[in-house]
Amino acid sequence: MYVVDRRQFLGLTLSAAAFSAATNLLPFDDRYAQGKVLGADGIPLSPQIEGPETMFLTWPGDPTSTICIQWIDEDHGREITLAYSPLEIDDWQVAKVVTKPFPMTNDKVYRASISSLKPGTEYRFRLGADSPTFRFRTMPSKITDTFHFVTGGDAGTGSHAIGTNQLAARQEPYFALIAGDLAYDNGKSPKTFVKYLKNYRAHMVDPQGRLIPMLACPGNHEVDGAYRQPREKAGSYLSVFDCFYRDTTYGVFDIGDEFSLVLLDTDHISTIEGEQTSWLEKTLAERQSKQHLFVANHVPAYPSYRSSNIGSDKPGTGSAQRKLWCPLFERYNVDVVLEHHDHLFKRTHPLTNGMKDQNGVPYLGDGSWGMLRPLKEPELRPYLAKVSSSYHMTAHHLEGDERYHIALEENGRIADVCMTKNKRAAKRG
Ligand SMILES: [Fe+2]
Repeated sequence: MYVVDRRQFLGLTLSAAAFSAATNLLPFDDRYAQGKVLGADGIPLSPQIEGPETMFLTWPGDPTSTICIQWIDEDHGREITLAYSPLEIDDWQVAKVVTKPFPMTNDKVYRASISSLKPGTEYRFRLGADSPTFRFRTMPSKITDTFHFVTGGDAGTGSHAIGTNQLAARQEPYFALIAGDLAYDNGKSPKTFVKYLKNYRAHMVDPQGRLIPMLACPGNHEVDGAYRQPREKAGSYLSVFDCFYRDTTYGVFDIGDEFSLVLLDTDHISTIEGEQTSWLEKTLAERQSKQHLFVANHVPAYPSYRSSNIGSDKPGTGSAQRKLWCPLFERYNVDVVLEHHDHLFKRTHPLTNGMKDQNGVPYLGDGSWGMLRPLKEPELRPYLAKVSSSYHMTAHHLEGDERYHIALEENGRIADVCMTKNKRAAKRG
């Protein structure tokens, strides 16, 4: 892993196209000096929303050919049709909108699952005859030099979450991954979950007007009881994300030919040990030819705030992952692990068995999309390369065998830039 400062990053010998994409990606201070967009009262501005206020997109399967369009609303008791077409030509198809209960309320989840879309294509859709037109794009089957996405965790519904949403949307990402603790509904406040979706709908629209698909994995605040609970205890979260998490609460997105994103459950519904760990090993082993292999989960193996108790007999935060998952990340040369939950910004050194190792695995994140804590004893955490108390999300820019990971603070400043390269290719070569 290479660490570069902002000046170095801008001077890197990227290809002209990649450099152009990278400069679009970066929120230069003069463009975003004000950080989030505030109203006169100091509260982040929300644009006028057309259509369902909670509508969002996610992927039920292959991101190059499927999309799931969902929203939560009262039961209108009538059929709704959704029509969609490629943006460039009029080739309208009709998709069925199905409904199911939104737990603990009288409302319904409305869902249209569409498949057989074309990769790397812009689409538009409408809900009924009088509807405005909405836009989205499918993932390309080949990674291009403009491919990028944003990740983070621990959002909530406050003004900082909105500010980070605004910053994230300006990066024009293909998708956003919120890896646990989305709304803080704790599995028992559907109202809070609805508020989270309203914020996402209001702000996670890119500068071209496209809705940005949201991916997620579970955190403790999705679940009533936080750990080792049945699926019913994560009613709001799973009512919309069960289009992907049909049976388990972990899974993998194979995004085109070169990129796999493994999403894990850190003991909230699926236990770490047992089936999930067996599945993880098989999943990583089968993806050794990928150019980009990412893993994301909620609770960190290498926490920046909580106590890991590494080297003591007392289990600390992340001990189960360090025992069962980190050896797999190392054996199968995972490029980057994204982890959260501690409400700071952090980047670890590349690690093998908890020790700094240039061939090890870097752990990025720590969950401060909308939540923050003060620093706590960073000097006692030798695995950390960088840590700060700042709201942030990370933009990942993929180019060939290389990746740039750019952590952006809520006000648009660059907290950190690092580069990772494909270690599996090096090992094969
Ligand atoms: Fe958490």
